[in-house]
Amino acid sequence: KQANESKCSLGSNPPALTAKPNKSTTTQADYHLLHVLVSFMWLWLFSFQLVYVALVYLLRILSGFSCSASMVSLLCFSFMQYEGAVAEDGRSPSVWDTFTQAGKMSDKSTGDVAADGYHKYKDDVKLMVDTNLEAYRFSISWSRLIPNGRGAVNPKGLEYYNNLINELVQHGIQVHVMLSHLDFPQVLDDEYAGWLSPKIVEDFTAFADVCFREFGDRVSYWTTIDEPNVSALGSYDNALFAPGRCSNPFGITNCTVGNSTVEPYIAAHNMILAHASATRLYREKYQAAQKGGVGINVYSSWSYPMTNSDVDVEAAKRYLDFVFGWILEPLVSGDYPDVMKKNVGSRLPSFTKSQSQVVKGTVDFIGINHYYSMYVNDRPLDKGTRDYSADMSLYQRASKTIPGSSKVIFSTMLVRETTSLNYF
Ligand SMILES: *[C@@H]1O[C@H](CO)[C@@H](O)[C@H](O)[C@H]1NC(C)=O
Ligand SMILES: *[C@@H]1O[C@H](CO)[C@@H](O)[C@H](O)[C@H]1NC(C)=O
Ligand SMILES: *[C@@H]1O[C@H](CO)[C@@H](O)[C@H](O)[C@H]1NC(C)=O
Repeated sequence: KQANESKCSLGSNPPALTAKPNKSTTTQADYHLLHVLVSFMWLWLFSFQLVYVALVYLLRILSGFSCSASMVSLLCFSFMQYEGAVAEDGRSPSVWDTFTQAGKMSDKSTGDVAADGYHKYKDDVKLMVDTNLEAYRFSISWSRLIPNGRGAVNPKGLEYYNNLINELVQHGIQVHVMLSHLDFPQVLDDEYAGWLSPKIVEDFTAFADVCFREFGDRVSYWTTIDEPNVSALGSYDNALFAPGRCSNPFGITNCTVGNSTVEPYIAAHNMILAHASATRLYREKYQAAQKGGVGINVYSSWSYPMTNSDVDVEAAKRYLDFVFGWILEPLVSGDYPDVMKKNVGSRLPSFTKSQSQVVKGTVDFIGINHYYSMYVNDRPLDKGTRDYSADMSLYQRASKTIPGSSKVIFSTMLVRETTSLNYF
């Protein structure tokens, strides 16, 4: 824990994250990196379960906002790890309830009770105060707030999040909210296959609208979507995550539905559009009064070339284009990295001109979840059917002395044995 004094210190008074006065003229040139965001993932014993603690530096990229380094201790939970009470007070199932209740976690765990935060949030806020926590980020369960996915707001859901936020504010803990942490209501999966349909952009924006309107007077830090690459690949490439779609030979299981070669790209595309749409809505409707900001966070591992050869140096750059660029390049420049367009070809959706304009410049901050770095070396592009891992055209390894893998390595796999539901 460390809090350096600075004029943008993320103390109890959130810095103004206001956009430029004339938002519609924001261009890429308006953006520049002001400081680097790194977060450390720690394991922390809390409420009798292991969860990650992230120390997050926020990267400000809005023009006109400058400051020296600052840092807060921030504890992050997803509702699935935390809330429990999955069938209480009008909440509808999320895709993760369906997935875990079908016994698809390696340890058969579910989020049915989790840390029982729905009932014990007051005790937990007390623990946060006792540990001098400065900020807390939780995710809102879309299924609890808007059980039908769109339309009516569940008053009990509203009450729960209002109570939690008030409790945090009363105790001087800065509130950060994650809108979508790997989940969405099962009804929307049944209706249009969730992130695979562009219809989710409108529903996600409406969900975000309710959150901004109801909670935005007390919440200044909004993150739209947690680790979109993890979500897209876990859910639609290897089927480790809900709703568990894949196609042979890419899944960890023999999926009956899905297409690992195209669906992750479609899902990420819709996540990027949904993020942009919600961010634009916030800027137009709420930012002037609420003075908060909207960002996204990415799962990151840095890459180092295995050798100094040109192809390995290229491979290390390509790795970064695939893992950061996939999500961040469109948000900054309005399009995917060239090497992704080249290697993925027609399986990569493209942005129309107007989509590109909408997407470009839609980050007030970028959250980086850093787990560790990889050594990378070149691997010829497979001729046959390829998924995301194969499209990267490289081998990766966490240490120089272990054999390289042509598949994306989940760092979470390393701690999988020690805790349940640690994917969140
Ligand atoms: C998938 O099905 C194939 C052929 O039926 C079988 O050989 C393989 O073991 C199955 N894999 C898994 C992970 O169940
Ligand atoms: C996946 O989609 C691609 C492109 O539409 C198609 O060529 C391929 O046959 C599909 N694969 C499966 C397993 O459905
Ligand atoms: C997402 O990208 C990171 C690198 O930024 C990588 O380490 C991670 O394995 C990726 N996630 C998945 C599910 O492939």
